[in-house]
Amino acid sequence: MGNDEEKHCNLIMNKERKLIIAGNWKMNKTAAEALALVNSLKLEIANVKEVDIVVCPPFTALESVSKAILETKNIRLGAQNMSENNFGAFTGEICAGMLKEFSVRYVILGHSERRQFQKESDALIAKRAAAVHGAALKPIVCVGETLAEREAGQMEKVLETQVRGSLDGLTKEQMVETVVAYEPVWAIGTGKTATTQQAQDAHAFIRGVLAKKFDAATAKKVRIQYGGSVKPSNAKELMGQPDVDGALVGGAALEARSFADIIKNSI
Ligand code: PGA
Repeated sequence: MGNDEEKHCNLIMNKERKLIIAGNWKMNKTAAEALALVNSLKLEIANVKEVDIVVCPPFTALESVSKAILETKNIRLGAQNMSENNFGAFTGEICAGMLKEFSVRYVILGHSERRQFQKESDALIAKRAAAVHGAALKPIVCVGETLAEREAGQMEKVLETQVRGSLDGLTKEQMVETVVAYEPVWAIGTGKTATTQQAQDAHAFIRGVLAKKFDAATAKKVRIQYGGSVKPSNAKELMGQPDVDGALVGGAALEARSFADIIKNSI
């Protein structure tokens, strides 16, 4: 084993947290296309057990993907959003009971695209996170600064506000079962990945905020994913950082081989 490889293994082994790599398919793939993608993915990662693997297709493809992974032990299903309400007159919304029908386990909340285009606030995301836990599902709560905020020296302030606001009201037990995704907005879909140092610094900062808001023992158990132009070529280095516990992958998750390579390169 080369020095670099050894260092990487040690870092992974020293982590108490299991890596979680999720594919956020966004508004891509019809039900038929999603089925083809997940079937290819199943073949690519058949023997991988070291990482929690999650796929998050659009709502309309949950049923077909759910059936396809029924017998699969290593792929879990996630949704891209969920209402804070359990039923009722909320046109266009989807509630927990509807997701659970398809064995969904994870729900992405507060993605920057929803914060930007649907004007989702930290307070709304916190309500949704509580509803996700209320249904015994696990939220993946996204936070991240824009380029303008980073350049203005506001990164830490923005992250602290988002972390505190979006996770407000959760108990320590719920926090441990929550995944945080750090996704710098300037790195999403741009091909511009944060450097490993930038990612590690932001993750360590977020863990520090969690320690202040909850406590150090809780913060140590929370998995923090990095998201923003993750690809097979940068996955290993990113996952090797002490506070990076997985990835939320957009574009590179739309193709089975590249998503599988991200997973394989991370272990
Ligand atoms: P990207 O998207 O991998 O295409 O940058 C990541 C995300 O938005 O979750």
